[in-house]
Amino acid sequence: MAARTSTFLLPLLHRARPLLLGRKWHHRSPWFSSQSCSRGLSGISPALSPQLAGRSYKELYELSVKEPETFWGSVARERLAWSTAFQQVSDCDLATGRVSWFLGGKLNVSVNCLDVHAAKDPDRVALIWEKDEPGTEERVTYRELLEMTCRLANTLKSLGVQKGDRVAIYMPVSPIAVATMLACARIGAVHTVVFAGFSSEALAGRIQDAQCKVVVTCNQGVRGGRLINLKSTVDTAVKSCPTVQHVLVAQRTDHSVPMGKLDMSLEEAMSRESAECAPEPMDSEDMLFMLYTSGSTGKPKGIVHTQAGYLLYASLTHQYVFDYSPGDVFGCVADIGWITGHSYVVYGPLCNGATTVLFESTPVYPDPGRYWEMVERLRINQFYGAPTAIRLLLKYEESWVKKYDRSSLKTLGSVGEPINHEAWEWFYNVVGDKRCPLVDTWWQTETGGVCIAPRPAEKGAEILPAMAMRPFFGIQPALMGEKGQTLSGNDISGALCISKPWPGMAKTIFGDHQRFVDAYFKPYPGHYFTGDGAHRSEEGYYQITGRMDDVINISGHRLGTAEVEDALDEHPDVPETAVVGISHDVKGEVAFAFVVLKENTAENQEHVIKELRHLVATKIAKYAVPDHFLVVKRLPKTRSGKIMRRILRKIAMQQTESLGDVSTLDDPSVVTEIIQAHKQYRSRLDKE
Ligand code: WT7
Repeated sequence: MAARTSTFLLPLLHRARPLLLGRKWHHRSPWFSSQSCSRGLSGISPALSPQLAGRSYKELYELSVKEPETFWGSVARERLAWSTAFQQVSDCDLATGRVSWFLGGKLNVSVNCLDVHAAKDPDRVALIWEKDEPGTEERVTYRELLEMTCRLANTLKSLGVQKGDRVAIYMPVSPIAVATMLACARIGAVHTVVFAGFSSEALAGRIQDAQCKVVVTCNQGVRGGRLINLKSTVDTAVKSCPTVQHVLVAQRTDHSVPMGKLDMSLEEAMSRESAECAPEPMDSEDMLFMLYTSGSTGKPKGIVHTQAGYLLYASLTHQYVFDYSPGDVFGCVADIGWITGHSYVVYGPLCNGATTVLFESTPVYPDPGRYWEMVERLRINQFYGAPTAIRLLLKYEESWVKKYDRSSLKTLGSVGEPINHEAWEWFYNVVGDKRCPLVDTWWQTETGGVCIAPRPAEKGAEILPAMAMRPFFGIQPALMGEKGQTLSGNDISGALCISKPWPGMAKTIFGDHQRFVDAYFKPYPGHYFTGDGAHRSEEGYYQITGRMDDVINISGHRLGTAEVEDALDEHPDVPETAVVGISHDVKGEVAFAFVVLKENTAENQEHVIKELRHLVATKIAKYAVPDHFLVVKRLPKTRSGKIMRRILRKIAMQQTESLGDVSTLDDPSVVTEIIQAHKQYRSRLDKE
């Protein structure tokens, strides 16, 4: 594929060119010493070491669980370029939440994602930036991305960013955002990408918690034909962030934004820097990045991932779950603000030398054929997206799909929330022409990569709608009963745990290791608890049944109902609220808020609700704003004062015939009261 140079990057690359033209990228010790760079897989081919070669998928899985040290040791040695070999494969104890992989080893993630490929094939396309306007895509080669990353790394260094320092990235999906992530990795800084849809307060909370030194952003974002003023959001956020010393601003549009005393043009700063930057040798367990995600209580938690284990797991799953082969164009349409973007837009594909698509737009811009027109134009081989988008698209005529050539597609993937049968069938039959395996992949921010999924690489394996999920290499799922016992046998449901450590698992919550231990390792001692429930079928397949805690999933975005309640409770006229998730045919779930108002505000209800919507949008993000608000006099509580959200959820879902046990309520008459109020609300809705 011929590389076309990005106009966005042009000024940089022109300056870079004289430095690199006619110069061979040499293998520099210790990064490329023959011993340390023995990528025995010849980079990414599925050929395995003598120990692993020739074994069937089933045999490999068995080896991965019976002899995890042999299995993970071999794949880590052959897939990653190390500057110092590791001494010990793992040192983990799930009883105490201690997780360590590849001890004594040193490597650099950016070297594995860039230098090794740029050395072999510098003109291979690393990124295809599918910009908002169809047909305006830009390609970035491995050499270009390496140069960009080095200039960015040098820029960060010149601003005093050192190993271990945190850098916040508030940018839309773009090559410069990917280069910023990799630049952090190159110098050992820790990135925390904040989804560019979060409000300034949500951004500030994350910057404060992570104590970031630098924020990298864009003047504006462009999505669905609309401009989003990112820089002004950052301006507001950093006012309350004393740790921030610099704000680097990349120019996505022509619009010029006011520059304050912290601000600096990223392109200008980069143009002054060299296109080479020596990679920092990092310990396997040094922090690579943190990513904030919602829990059932409290503020979002900074999930910490480290270097070697994370990268290895992202790359192995990228290859095996999606049946990736060298030369494929991998199209994951997730935003880099979520873990899916980290593992399957950036780290997994780049570690494997793939061409990865950066999707800036929306599924319906300029029309509902966007994804499939893009598949045709970019010849995408693997398409990985979210059920919520599929549910939206299946409402339109099939011709939006059929008119585009999708013959390049080999694998379809789904992630982030349960995929219902209708969406599965449409994706498989209409998009994939019943020809492409559709992999429903279960995992979490905390797991680093896919843990449970069907495996297309397993030739001849049957793929069943929504029921075909099996554990990936090294993953040992367990279902737990109400008394905390492991449930054996098939056709059974329970709390989904994972019983053995794997290299991709998170290491801690930034600044609060105890919370990490309490949330994931205390509920079922000796196991990692996922927060999800699951069913194991007769055949031993897993089906995820949904969250067991107060976390909800709106359009694949994870949200703690407690966060929404905290935002609502800030309103001076609102003494108390309870938020639950109810199902929605496109978004999967939406938030339903039960609100208690102060006596004297009763007439003002409409106005208060308007203010509440605004509060959630400014404190968290627009997607978190509840779809429903119901004013009630009281909330159902137990005698000890605990709100019974289970009952509220049933009422909101109109399942009042199966309310379950209400005898523990302090005053059961509250329930009738709320059911009444809810009926009136629904009939008002029906009339509207
Ligand atoms: C939660 C994790 C996985 C990356 C994106 C979301 C739900 C995720 C599935 C699936 C059913 C799923 C779970 C999980 N979830 N994938 N294939 N089927 N549910 O990462 O934001 O950390 O959310 O998403 O409830 O716990 P996340």
